[in-house]
Amino acid sequence: MEERKGFGSNFGFLMAAVGSAVGLGNIWGFPYKMGANGGFTFLMVYIFLGVTTGFIVMISELAIGRKTGKGAVEAYRMVSKKFKWMGWMGIASAFFILFFYCALGGYCIKYVILNVGDLLKAGFGANVFAEAAAANGTSVGAEAWSALIANPTEAVIYGLIFVALTMLIVLGGVGGGIEKVCSVGMPALFVALLICIIRACTLPGAVNGLKYMFVPGWAVANGVIEEAPNIFQVFATAGGQMFFSLSLGMGIMITYGSYLDKKENLQKNAIIIVVMDTLVALMAGLCVIPGRFALDPTGALGGPSLLFVTMQNVFHKMPLGALFGILFYLLVVFAAISSSISLLEVIVAHFCDKARDAGKGDKRKVYSLIAAVFVGLGCILICVDSLGGAGISPFNILGIEKDVNGNLPTWCDCWLDFFDCISEGILMPLGALLMCLCIGWELGPKMVDDECCLEGQSFKMKGFFNICVKFITPLCMILVLYGQIKEFFF
Ligand code: PHE
Repeated sequence: MEERKGFGSNFGFLMAAVGSAVGLGNIWGFPYKMGANGGFTFLMVYIFLGVTTGFIVMISELAIGRKTGKGAVEAYRMVSKKFKWMGWMGIASAFFILFFYCALGGYCIKYVILNVGDLLKAGFGANVFAEAAAANGTSVGAEAWSALIANPTEAVIYGLIFVALTMLIVLGGVGGGIEKVCSVGMPALFVALLICIIRACTLPGAVNGLKYMFVPGWAVANGVIEEAPNIFQVFATAGGQMFFSLSLGMGIMITYGSYLDKKENLQKNAIIIVVMDTLVALMAGLCVIPGRFALDPTGALGGPSLLFVTMQNVFHKMPLGALFGILFYLLVVFAAISSSISLLEVIVAHFCDKARDAGKGDKRKVYSLIAAVFVGLGCILICVDSLGGAGISPFNILGIEKDVNGNLPTWCDCWLDFFDCISEGILMPLGALLMCLCIGWELGPKMVDDECCLEGQSFKMKGFFNICVKFITPLCMILVLYGQIKEFFF
C-alpha cells in the first residue's frame, strides 16, 4: 500500500498549524471585538478561555489525529461508537467556511492590486477613486469597496483565483505543498506584521487606538461604541472568536495531528499553537486599530468595512501608503491562504485515506480538484450575492420580513452570513462540545494522556486536563454555543 506522507519536521507542522489558526479571524475579528467588548477585560476572558477550553480542545484533537493516523471522518469512526459520525460535521463546516473564506480572500487579492496601481499611479489604483470620493463626499476606500461590490464578475474572478491557489498548494501534498508554503510564509507574515505595527503605532494619534484596545471602558466613555456589553456577552464573544481563530471543533487539528510524528511532544505543540495565535491576534490589533484612530477616525471599526474601507483609507492617507498597503494586504492574503489550505486538507485527506486504504493510491490530485470545484461554486454564490445586495439572499428567497427598524436576523441577511452562522455559529462549537464529551465521558481522558506520553514524553498538565475536559470545557462550550446561537439567530 502507498505510504501516507506527513510533515517533514516539527517546525513545518507548527507553521502549518499556526498558519491554519492565524487568518482573517485574527486580523479583523479580534481587534474589533476586543475594543468593543471592554478591552483588557476581554483579553483576560479570552486568555482564561484559551487555557481552559482552547488548549484542551487543541490537545484532544491532536491526540485523536495522531493516535488514529487518519483524517477526521475515519478518526472518529475508529475511536468512538457514539460519535462516529462527527467527522462528517467537520467536512461540512470546512465546505461552508471555504465558500466565504475564498470570496473574502479574493477581495484581499483585489486590494493588493489596487495598491500596486496606486503606487504606480496607474489607472487601476485606489487613486482613481479619489475624484468620485470628493464628488460624493465619501472616501477612497468606500468608493473602491462599492465598486468591487457592484461588480460581481470581478469579485468572482478574484475569488476563483484564491480557490485555485488554495487547490494548487493542497495538491502538492502535506510535506510538499502545505509545509513548504507555511514554513516560508509564516515567518514572513510575522516580519511583515512587525513592520506594519511600527508604522501604525508611530502615527500621530495612534495612542487612542491603543486606549481603545486596552483600557476597559474607554470605547464607551469616548462614544466609540454606544453601550458597554455585559460580562456574559464578553464571555460569549471571546469564546466564539477563540474557536474560530484556533480552527477548532471541525477536525482540522485532527487531520494535521494525523500527520505528526509519534516522537513529537503534543502538549508543547498545543501550547505553542494557542500562544502564537493569540500573539498574532494582538499584533494584528496593534497594526489595524492605531491606524484607524490616527488617519480615519470616523471609519468603521468592524465588519468587512474595517478591512476594505477603513484600512484602505488609512493607506491612502499615509506617506508611502501604497507600499504599506501592498505589504498589509499581501500579509492578509497569505494569512487567509494558510487557513484555507487547512480547510481544504480536511476534506481531501478523508478521500485520499479512503482511496489509499482501498489500494488505489492516494489520488490527491483528483480529490483536490473535485473539492475545489465545489468550493468554487459556493464562492461564486457568495460573490454574486454581493453581501446581500443582489436580491438572491436567503431572506429574499425565504420571504423573511425585516423588523420595524429594517433589520434581519444575521443568519438570513446574505449568503456569507448564512454559511458563517451554520459553521461558526453551530457546527464548530457543537463539534467541540461533543468532542469533549466523547473524550471526557466515553473514551476517558486517559486516551489523550497515553498519546501524549508515547516514546518517553510527559504530560505535565494531565491533572488540569482531566478536570477541564470532563467539566469546565463542556460548560464553557455550552455557554459559547448559546451565545453564538443568540447572536446569529435572534
Ligand atoms: N482560524 C482561521 C482564522 O482565524 C479561520 C479558520 C476557521 C480556519 C476554521 C480553519 C478552520 O481566520
